[in-house]
Amino acid sequence: NSMVTDSKNLRVKLVLLGDSGVGKSCIVLRFVRGQFDPTSKVTVGASFLSQTLALQDSTTVKFEIWDTAGQERYAALAPLYYRGAAVAVVVYDITSPESFVKAKYWVKELQKHASPDIIMALVGNKADLHENRSVSVQDAQDYAEKNGMFFIETSAKTANNINQLFEEIAKRLP
Ligand code: GTP
Ligand code: MG
Repeated sequence: NSMVTDSKNLRVKLVLLGDSGVGKSCIVLRFVRGQFDPTSKVTVGASFLSQTLALQDSTTVKFEIWDTAGQERYAALAPLYYRGAAVAVVVYDITSPESFVKAKYWVKELQKHASPDIIMALVGNKADLHENRSVSVQDAQDYAEKNGMFFIETSAKTANNINQLFEEIAKRLP
């Protein structure tokens, strides 16, 4: 038929940053494979995965995901991954105040050294552990707003808000 569809195919470099153990690799595994690994091993250096998301309007977004290692000894490698990234996802664990402090450190580092038009998301993961919450939604939301980021709480374990995270990112792409 003669219908014309206005589709586009985007390719986006995305980097995940955050303290060791907050669940970065589990978020990626949930998004890419629909799985959760309770015995997930610490990432060494960084790992790369890609996943294509189809949007309502027949646009597709191919996320090229750099999942960095959160352990302190790898901190110096981070610029290799966030340089040239269109999107940075900064993750903390809602039960760990230290991980929220670390998230703020990464936001400052990105503001100093990443591309000025980088899209930044603040992600409070392990939302299923809300009984042990020690970072309030309000604090995280306020911080995100002040720093021009969008904020979402996720659970890689239950899959809550994992797809929404990537859909929200896709909506914000230029
Ligand atoms: P590094 O690779 O060292 O930077 O850590 P990481 O941020 O990649 O952490 P990883 O994804 O390996 O997860 C660490 C631990 O947290 C694992 O034992 C996971 O099973 C657990 N975990 C990850 N996400 C969730 C979640 O949403 N809920 C719960 N309850 N546990 C989670
Ligand atoms: Mg990891």
